[in-house]
Amino acid sequence: MKKTLALILAACMSLSLVACGGGDKSNTPPAGGSNAGTSQSANQPSTGGSEAKTVGIAMPTQSLERWNRDGAYLDEQFKAAGYKTIVTYSDNKNEQQVNDIQNMLSQGVDLLIIAAIDGNGLNTVMNDAGAAGVPVIAYDRLIMNDNSSYYVSFDNYTVGKLQGEFVRDALDLDNAAGPFNMEFTAGDPADNNAPFFYNGAFDVLKPYIDSGKVIVPSGQTAFDAVATDQWQTDVALDRAQNVLASFYSDGTKLDAWLCSNDSTSMGVTQAVTQDYAGGNTVVITGQDGDVANLRNIKDGKQSMTVYKAVANEAVVTLDLAKAILDGKTADASLISASGWDFECAYDTESYETTPGHKCPSFLLVPDVVTADNMEEKLVTPGYYKVGADGYLEATNG
Ligand code: GAL
Repeated sequence: MKKTLALILAACMSLSLVACGGGDKSNTPPAGGSNAGTSQSANQPSTGGSEAKTVGIAMPTQSLERWNRDGAYLDEQFKAAGYKTIVTYSDNKNEQQVNDIQNMLSQGVDLLIIAAIDGNGLNTVMNDAGAAGVPVIAYDRLIMNDNSSYYVSFDNYTVGKLQGEFVRDALDLDNAAGPFNMEFTAGDPADNNAPFFYNGAFDVLKPYIDSGKVIVPSGQTAFDAVATDQWQTDVALDRAQNVLASFYSDGTKLDAWLCSNDSTSMGVTQAVTQDYAGGNTVVITGQDGDVANLRNIKDGKQSMTVYKAVANEAVVTLDLAKAILDGKTADASLISASGWDFECAYDTESYETTPGHKCPSFLLVPDVVTADNMEEKLVTPGYYKVGADGYLEATNG
């Protein structure tokens, strides 16, 4: 099923017609994927004609690879289901995303799907959407406003837990004598996901730090000390180079570096490759399965990535949107009635948009990808293909 879905979507995308608009100009849109800016479907499938409802899909940027896939999958899923779509990419600029969403509301969208650049930066448009009775699905990143109708994401704490457990097992912390030296790089403080990723990982490793089996020579373990503005590779690179120069230039061995996602891992891996003089392989984690990072994993420079099948996240989002627009109550019954061939949990406790205000959430399950299993986990389901050079390439652009 997943392979078929991915291949169908890949084929559809090559046919989708999009209007150029605002959004990122600096990034080449994915092959066959939606362009940056607004894509008002030019050829709406004939279901309901002018009655076809319109869905606004607001993605944060195209400069972080995964959002190109999310935007493309969502656009194709909703079009194939007969909806009109407006898709924007806001170049990681919160004010631009506010404007993009305001434009969607002024065009009369019936539902909004938003991956927020800043979970605390959308109150005006979220309140406007609430006042207009437009439901909002907070997509992948929670929006800290009670007008978020639902949240669809992966279990973000588990993403981090998988990364922490990978480092624990790779260093054999339960049996080896140690001590081991490691560092941490977390995500964007404006992204509500980032602390969940970091806490999931740190909660696994903290007992070993407390016991002295793991040492952090930089002493930087607080989230704010290891966070990376807008998940930028260069920001992660700069900090990693400073840490290596300050704490490892005396020959101190570096055993592991926990990175919350692939764009930050790219920076850390570059710093370790260029500036770490130890001869050992450093255990380095990531998240998203970005193509460049999959190359690094195959080449042994990065150890793993946590993969989140955004094709499945789009399927959940579509079925949830249908239920909302059809006036049905969306809860755990959506999962049991869905026929999805992947795991998803309905969670009404873990996420709050304001203190005490729980946001009902649909949480998918992330997966660990390494050099040993990447073809089984990524190629077999059809998410990626093996290129002529033997490295993986995305199938959906
Ligand atoms: C997070 C997202 C991750 C990570 C990051 C960069 O919110 O869940 O997949 O890659 O943003 O886009």
